[in-house]
Amino acid sequence: MQLHQSSWPEIDAYLQRSKGIIVPIGSTEQHGPNGLLGTDAICPEVIARRAGDASGILIGPTFNVGQAQHHLAFPGTISLRPSTMIAAIYDWTASLTRHGFERIYWFNGHGGNIATINAAFSEIYGDWSLKRAGANTQPVRCFLRNWWELGGVGDLCRQLFPVGEGSHATASEVSVTYAAYPDAVKQVEMTPKIAPNGPILDADDYRRRFPDGRIGSDPSQATAEKGEKIIAAASKALVGDFERFLAAN
Ligand code: NI
Repeated sequence: MQLHQSSWPEIDAYLQRSKGIIVPIGSTEQHGPNGLLGTDAICPEVIARRAGDASGILIGPTFNVGQAQHHLAFPGTISLRPSTMIAAIYDWTASLTRHGFERIYWFNGHGGNIATINAAFSEIYGDWSLKRAGANTQPVRCFLRNWWELGGVGDLCRQLFPVGEGSHATASEVSVTYAAYPDAVKQVEMTPKIAPNGPILDADDYRRRFPDGRIGSDPSQATAEKGEKIIAAASKALVGDFERFLAAN
């Protein structure tokens, strides 16, 4: 079940049976020579949609622009400042809690978002803690899960790509987008075959260190078939992970 394909009476009815929602969150940033700019948003979106279709869990619209300043030396990248992103996550959450949602599961596709999402959670909880004397319990619980950290998913990705998985423009994430959008598959030879590793600083430094955008990866190995395996495993794991979040104290 997807929020943006539902009517308000359907959301009203959903709230009678559940106070939880999964919100995919990602980034619009370069993903190397054969990776889609939307990769980090597409991955959590397609995995969450599959989980929502199978289980009836409500999936929110994808928060698809994140903290990607280090990719801005590559055309097409769009980035929010951390402060802007914190404010936007706060407002998305406040809108949902106004209607009665109490458990917001942020399903993330971009490592660069993690610190900012956690800071947004502190802003959300801090607002409640600071303003409501004597009510130092949060009416809302937020949760962050990176899709590649769902149970069994990391092992599967390492098994599918024992060499050249890497850490940015990974073979796994590019495979997931190819499974979702087979018409967008791009055949590109990688030079060098496996990209270098190194620290992430500002955008110009990034482009000097990683000239084609990849870090440690060989995404020319990516295939839609392997992406489909990842989506199947991750969507199944996501349902269980979300249910545990709903049931937790
Ligand atoms: Ni990525």
